[in-house]
Order: sequence, then structure tokens, then C-alpha cells
Amino acid sequence: MEFKTIIEPFRIKTVEPIRQTTEAERIAAIREAHYNPFRLRAEDVLIDLLTDSGTGAMSVFQWAGMMKGDESYAGARSFFVFEDTVREITGFKHVIPTHQGRAAERILAGALVREGSIVPNNTHFDTTRANIEHERGEARDIPIREGHEPATLHPFKGNMDVAALERVLKERRHSVPFVMITVTNNSEGGQPVSMQNVRAVSALCRAHGVPFFIDACRFAENSWFIKQREPGYADRTPTEIAREMFSLADGCTMSAKKDGMANIGGFLAMNDDALAATCRTSLILTEGFPTYGGLAGYDLEAISVGLREALDEDYLRYRIRTVEYLSERMTAAGIPTVRPAGGHALYLDARAWLSHIPQSQYPGWALAVALYVTGGIRACEIGSVMFGRQPDGSERPASLELVRLAFPRRVYTQSHMDYVCEVLLYLNSVVHTIRGVRITEQPPALRHFTAKFELVSARTAQ
Ligand code: F0G
Repeated sequence: MEFKTIIEPFRIKTVEPIRQTTEAERIAAIREAHYNPFRLRAEDVLIDLLTDSGTGAMSVFQWAGMMKGDESYAGARSFFVFEDTVREITGFKHVIPTHQGRAAERILAGALVREGSIVPNNTHFDTTRANIEHERGEARDIPIREGHEPATLHPFKGNMDVAALERVLKERRHSVPFVMITVTNNSEGGQPVSMQNVRAVSALCRAHGVPFFIDACRFAENSWFIKQREPGYADRTPTEIAREMFSLADGCTMSAKKDGMANIGGFLAMNDDALAATCRTSLILTEGFPTYGGLAGYDLEAISVGLREALDEDYLRYRIRTVEYLSERMTAAGIPTVRPAGGHALYLDARAWLSHIPQSQYPGWALAVALYVTGGIRACEIGSVMFGRQPDGSERPASLELVRLAFPRRVYTQSHMDYVCEVLLYLNSVVHTIRGVRITEQPPALRHFTAKFELVSARTAQ
């Protein structure tokens, strides 16, 4: 007999209490935080879906591995365990540990991007974009058209527009230091990229002699989607699928805080010897010696175990199903989301749902504030606050106004999800009372982390 309930494939050994708050307490807390959920104290949050990054629960095997951490400055055994694991999964020759993904991005951009460079990507994550722009390059997003259409169903909505890439490479090949594909495509809904798309991008890059890197943060989730949705992959393991994908690229950047199942860490990997030497020099300057790269030996152990656990089929089945479950309930209630469900998060379409709030008053941000005040749930805007400010200081509304409910790995259970559903369904009944926001103070880059906001009064909103 095969039962259809998909259970959490773990039992809980250590618990961390979460604190209930009243709505009045939450109103005070968010006001104190200048209406920026990033500025809240985590203790004031009931269900924290701000990010799936570094927020996962580690397994007994990861904790056991940490006890074996070798903290030698140079040549630590833990580094070689880490290097072997990353090589086994990715096949890349050079493995450079970094303290997290953005450090890998900074080192890669610093080595290859110059003023006038163009880096095509299906969609850059915010730190990837910022690192390229910091070197005065252009971060150019070229997702397929469906990637911009929240309600359009497509099995691989994260794909890159191959024709657009071909145009850039034909016209500006010498301005393109490398091409990148982000798996899954976080900024467009955690949507997967097909093997066929990766293969086509790889072939074009090879034909034009341009290096091809993968932003591999959620490579295991992407492999699971390929297994489920792409013809010819149903009988392959997620590990085999990941290996095939990496074999099509020249290198990758990775945040081990996602599919490395660790609380901190990342790496940069590549085949090119000369580029690796340049990157290691830069690593020593700000991260650390090449065999620890800003991490403790025990972190390298935790990541080595975590990378394999992220590829476990029972885990991936439960993980992807959790998000799908929430997504199905939203669709049944008529709440607009990015469909189909993404891998690590549910993305609410705030522009469609809060259609009474103009983009200039940041509907996604307003929804994130309402989610906190109503249910103590912390979520993250991926819209015009995150992407609207241009490098020259001007404002341009983002193509999508999304609110991401990202799920920490192995942390919350089904009843937590049912609670989140209940809060969202309630918000649906009062959605027209949610007010827009305006920015009162902001830094020049990555403003969403620290900007201050106020609510737009109900009268001015009309
Ligand atoms: N690339 C992607 C696709 C990401 O999602 C992230 C981080 C990074 C790179 C940078 O990695 O945080 O280790 O420096 N995303 C987190 C998130 C922060 O919430 O989606 P990092």
C-alpha cells in the first residue's frame, strides 16, 4: 500500500520555542522598525519566512561532522573533505570556499567585470547585480517572456531567453566577460531552469568562447524539478542531474546557506587555472587563506554533509510539496501567486492582489507589513523597493511586485503552514484596507535592507 500523505522526513530532536505576540505589540514593533521587516527583532516574529538562506535546521550528521572540524589555518582536513564533496557534485577542478554566496560573486565580478561589461543572466539576484554594478558593469536580465507573467503556467519559467543571449553575444561578444544562469530563478519566483535551456546556453557560450557560470544556490531543488518535469530525467537521481548540469558550465558561485543546508558558507568553483589563481589572490585579501576562505573548519564539514542531504529524494519531495500545498490553497481562494509554485518559496503577486495600491506606493512592501501586523509572519518584498532604484539614482518600477514567503529548510511543520494559510485567507477578506508606503530614508544601494518607510494615509492613497 502506498499512502499519499507526504510527511516531514525527519523527527525533531531539539526544539526552539517561538513567541506569540498580540497585534498591538506587532504594530508597535513594526513602527519601531520604520515599517521595514528587515529591521524587526527576530524574537518579535512568529513564523519567519523572510528567507530560506542560512535559516535551515541542521541534521544530526551535520552536527556530528562539526565536531570533526579541523581548525588548522592551512591545509585543514576539513577543507579536503569539502573540496572532494564539491568536486564530486560539480566536477569543477578549483574549489574556493567563501563566507557566503555574495563573496564568491564579488571575487568573480572583481576578476572579470570592467566598466562597460555586460553580464547576461536569466535574472540576477540582488547581490549578484550589485556586485556587477559595483565594477561598473551592466547586469542584464534576459528571462523568457513567461518569467514575467505570474499567472502563465510553464514547467521551466526560470529559463533564459536563448535568442536574446545570442543577440548579445553576436553584437557585443567582447563586452561579455561571462554569462550566468541562476538555478532556480529566485527573483522571478524560484522557478526552475530546464536542462535543455542550460545546454543551449552552454552551446552558445562555447561557440562564442565566453565562460559560462551557474549561480547554483538552489541546484538541488532545480534538479528535482528537472526529474519531475523534463522528459528523459524521471529515472535519474538528483545527484546525476546536478552533475550533468554542472558539466555544461565552466564554473559556479554558490551560497551554501541554501542547498548547502548550512547556516553560513559558500564557494566559487571553476575549471580555468589562471582565473582560479586571480580569484584566490582576491580571496586572501578579504576572505582568508584558500583552504578556509572565511569559514571555520566545522562550517566546511557541515556544508559537506549538507550538500549531499539536499540531494536526498525524500527530502526534496517533501520540500517541493510543502510549497505546492500552500500554492494550491492560495489558488483555490483566488489569491494571485506566481504559478506554478517555486521551489523554496511561495510568491504572492502583490500588484494583482493589492491593485488599489499604485506601484509608486510599493504594494509588495505594503503587503509584507500587513502580513506581519496581522499574523506575525515575516516575508520579503521582491519588487520596486528591491529593484526600483537605478544606478543613476532614478526610480523605475520593477516588472513584478512580489512578496516572497521563503521556507527555511526542515524548520516548520504542516501546522505552521496551515496557520500561514489561515492568515492569508483572512487578509484576502480585508485586502482593500491595506495601505501603501512611502520611503522616508534610504541608502544608495541595496536599499531594502535598511530603508525607512511610513504608511501612506488612507486619504492620500485615493
Ligand atoms: N544568488 C541567489 C540566487 C540568491 O538567492 C542569493 C541569496 C545569493 C546569490 C547570495 O548568497 O546570501 O549567501 O550571499 N539569497 C538570499 C535570499 C539572501 O533570501 O534569497 P548569500
